[in-house]
Amino acid sequence: MDPTLLALRWAHILAAIVTVGGLVFARFALLPGLSELDEESRQRVHDRIRRHWLPWVTGGIALLLASGLSNFLLFNVRVGEEGWAGGAWMRATHYHAIFGVKFLLALIVFFFASGLVGRGSATQWLRANRSLWLTVTIGLAVVIVMISGWMRQLHTGPNEIVAGDGGVMIEETIELREQEPRREAGSDADGQEGQEADRGAPAQDSEAPATPVGGEETAG
Ligand code: HEM
Repeated sequence: MDPTLLALRWAHILAAIVTVGGLVFARFALLPGLSELDEESRQRVHDRIRRHWLPWVTGGIALLLASGLSNFLLFNVRVGEEGWAGGAWMRATHYHAIFGVKFLLALIVFFFASGLVGRGSATQWLRANRSLWLTVTIGLAVVIVMISGWMRQLHTGPNEIVAGDGGVMIEETIELREQEPRREAGSDADGQEGQEADRGAPAQDSEAPATPVGGEETAG
């Protein structure tokens, strides 16, 4: 397990939770809660919230960009170095195209999220109809999370415990199987280990190509 990738993933997911969670709270709790106030009082509340919430939004966006880009670059390096699917993995899975769509949507979400909490005149049209634009932004964020999960699934294989490390190591797993005949589950302490190695490894794994076609890890 790579500690840098793990830290990037933690940072990315936490930043996504905070920023998207803030949007959901604003749309479904704050706006209805303020609806009975007069316009002037509402504006005062929004101004106060801005002062406290803006650093979280800008910090969240910075963290999402930094962790997401680092993760993307590190993942590309890894796939290249390990030569997944003989170097054809990226093209075969359309990983770059999917990432491109996600990145574009994320930039739109960042623009809306900061405009909704900002005060520049260029983004006044967003705040003039907060309810609509918050709903649109949340919708886009949901699509982004779905795309992210899809990207993740593209390189998530059977979870094997190999040589004490977690992760997907199809090539090594096949070698282990060849060296060590399958044991009956629960026969003894070693048998338990054998059981662990078998878990989640579908029968077709034995037909996996000699080069790894997927691997554990990387997420922002
Ligand atoms: C609103 C903004 C964003 C949200 C809500 C978001 C959400 C997520 C989530 C939830 C994951 C984890 C997926 C999983 O493990 O199942 C993820 C992974 C990832 N994100 Fe983001 N993200 C955002 C912006 C970005 C940006 C701006 C970038 C790049 C510049 C980026 C790059 C990535 C990459 C490369 C992964 C790893 C995907 C993989 O496992 O192959 N994300 N994102």
